[in-house]
Amino acid sequence: MDYQTLMLKLALITALISAASCAYTADDYVRPKPRQVLHFPWPSHHSSEPQQVHVSLAGENHMRVSWITDDSFAPSIVEYGTSPGQYTSRAQGESTSYSYIFYSSGKIHHTVIGPLDHSTVYFYRCGGEGPEFHLRTPPAQLPVTFAVAGDLGQTGWTKSTLDHIDQCKYDIHLLPGDLSYADYIQRKWDTFGELVQPLASARAWMVTEGNHEKESIPFLKDGFQSYNARWKMPFEESGSTSNLYYSFEVAGVHVLMLGSYTDYDEYSDQYSWLKADLAKVDRERTPWLLALFHVPWYNSNTAHQGEGEGMMAAMEPLLHAAGVDIVLTGHVHAYERSTRVYNGKSDPCGAVHITIGDGGNNEGLARRYKNPQPEWSAFREASFGHGELRILNSTHAYWSWHRNDDDEPVRSDAVWITSLASSGCLREKAHESRKILMEP
Ligand SMILES: *[C@@H]1O[C@H](CO)[C@@H](O)[C@H](O)[C@H]1NC(C)=O
Ligand SMILES: [Fe+2]
Repeated sequence: MDYQTLMLKLALITALISAASCAYTADDYVRPKPRQVLHFPWPSHHSSEPQQVHVSLAGENHMRVSWITDDSFAPSIVEYGTSPGQYTSRAQGESTSYSYIFYSSGKIHHTVIGPLDHSTVYFYRCGGEGPEFHLRTPPAQLPVTFAVAGDLGQTGWTKSTLDHIDQCKYDIHLLPGDLSYADYIQRKWDTFGELVQPLASARAWMVTEGNHEKESIPFLKDGFQSYNARWKMPFEESGSTSNLYYSFEVAGVHVLMLGSYTDYDEYSDQYSWLKADLAKVDRERTPWLLALFHVPWYNSNTAHQGEGEGMMAAMEPLLHAAGVDIVLTGHVHAYERSTRVYNGKSDPCGAVHITIGDGGNNEGLARRYKNPQPEWSAFREASFGHGELRILNSTHAYWSWHRNDDDEPVRSDAVWITSLASSGCLREKAHESRKILMEP
């Protein structure tokens, strides 16, 4: 097979896969104009300069600093301290790289730093040179604030969402899948890394995978190669064997980061890990229990209708028994919030489900809804925006959704959520929970 035939075949395969992974059709709904994919004047880096810096939580009192260098000899060290320019500590990390068809990544560094103090600003430098970055560690106790935006991409709307998030005071960014929309063009993972660096180098970004992270090619590439190499999350720290699902704890909150695109049935590794992880949750220590994954289970938009059913059938009883308070998902490019719901019906001991796949990617909004609005659907709107979840204490949290339709962060939906731990629900569920979590 000559070079041109090979390229043609690859292009065909790629086209087929992207068509198949895009379940909705063009005449499904009318979208407002998506904004242009941003043009990145690629800054010239000298080869060992750190690029695409982002940070994430990595087990108790530790954070992982990730960055990329063109130079494959650049060291994976991070120097850090609590005053600018004075690095009192130093950590050695690891590195990886990957190739994808004709693309070769730079050297991808992951270095865990700590133990770190809570609610503290650290100044740091990657690879012994380059600009100084700073990050703030999350608090030890409530209150804690999460910024939430899924399906980001890298368009003018993404930029407007990120600008709005930047204006808010938050501790951690939660991203329920679909990051770069690189869609096989690996260089776009690099431009995405540059786009988010100002925010992601300053606050922990905790992400889970969406369909756009998969990038598999039959017979050539397994899925998630780029995502796993670049966005390493604390799966080992939380006893998981896969970067596609893990958990973390911050202040009084236990967060499950689940995978919609890996096995989730009762016999899967993810399911057994989840059961073991839930058995360790202590509601005295972490009164709030959150879950994130990509494909929503409660979705009254016509886009991606029913796609979450398999995972929901397998995992909803488990999450319900464990008393998950809030579920955050993406995938549908619109915003929807449910009442507390379980098994398809409003249920005061169920979880609040929030779809927030409206970060601003180039595919545009999902505007068509099923009518009548289901009884469990409390609010729905097709606009780009972001969410803020402020968990104040063991009983109260304030959720708000900020639309950026007019380039202003307009707060369009807001609600107080009280924890299941402060209701009678967990006591009521104790038996159900023991039964489902303890059975082999
Ligand atoms: C939690 O915060 C809410 C809202 O400020 C307040 O009304 C409530 O009394 C607080 N609960 C506790 C247990 O401190
Ligand atoms: Fe998606």
